[in-house]
Amino acid sequence: MSNNSEEQITQNVLDSMAKAPDARLKQVMTGLVNHLHAFIREVELTQEEWMQGIQFLTSTGQMCDDKRQEFILLSDILGATMLVDAIDHRLPDGATESTIFGPFYREGAPELPTGATISQDGRGEPAVVTGRVLSTNGTPIPGALLDVWETDENGLYEQQDPEQPDMNLRGKFRADGEGRYCFVGIKPVSYPIPDDGPVGRLLRSLGRHPFRPAHIHLLVSADGFVPVTTHLFVKGDPYLDSDAVFGTKDSLVVDFLQHDSEEEAARYHVATPFYTVEYDFVLKPM
Ligand code: BEZ
Ligand code: FE
Repeated sequence: MSNNSEEQITQNVLDSMAKAPDARLKQVMTGLVNHLHAFIREVELTQEEWMQGIQFLTSTGQMCDDKRQEFILLSDILGATMLVDAIDHRLPDGATESTIFGPFYREGAPELPTGATISQDGRGEPAVVTGRVLSTNGTPIPGALLDVWETDENGLYEQQDPEQPDMNLRGKFRADGEGRYCFVGIKPVSYPIPDDGPVGRLLRSLGRHPFRPAHIHLLVSADGFVPVTTHLFVKGDPYLDSDAVFGTKDSLVVDFLQHDSEEEAARYHVATPFYTVEYDFVLKPM
């Protein structure tokens, strides 16, 4: 006999999973069902709204292929990606904070000598990024690896833009014997996340914009340390307080200091104006 009162429906689903052999799966699915049902009750979802939701998720799936992951984008604009990241990366005070990985990383960026530029097309304003990679106890980490990527001055990553050379604005750099690193990128620009699909339509319906504040992505790693996936954001960017994917953290916002001296520019083999940024990355031992 079935009892299908509103409360009993939830209990029936929970009971159906009582013998799940995987304890973690059972915990996750029990939480999901409880919260999903509570949400439906709270907003008193109509059948029409439920169908709209199904259609939205269907078109989100249909937008996914090997180049586009619309479900991750959905997770990003709902803050879910950042919340999972925060829970999964509870780091000690002083360690460099992590932020969103994003969909535009590519394996296999070239390893370049200290001080080299990652800009192959010479567009944008050069930015010299220097600093050290340290352990949380303050000692330098010689040989730490920085894998960096950013958009060109048009706000597009190289794989989004047929005009850019392969691997443009990507590179790997090793810290020297004192943990010091140096690379030349370009001053990043704010840019919109891909908004020509269901996620973009959702943003517009919610009165939200699709922009991310200007940033350089970095994946910093070293043997024996917990790697960190992070960004350097540009101080003063108009989108710092409204990042479409909620990735901004105060500790990652840095000054890009402008320089106009030809003499200084010659030292770094860059054109004027150029920018300098100094930032120490701090990793937690494993
Ligand atoms: C990015 O910063 O590359 C990014 C992050 C989340 C969604 C889209 C782009
Ligand atoms: Fe990005």
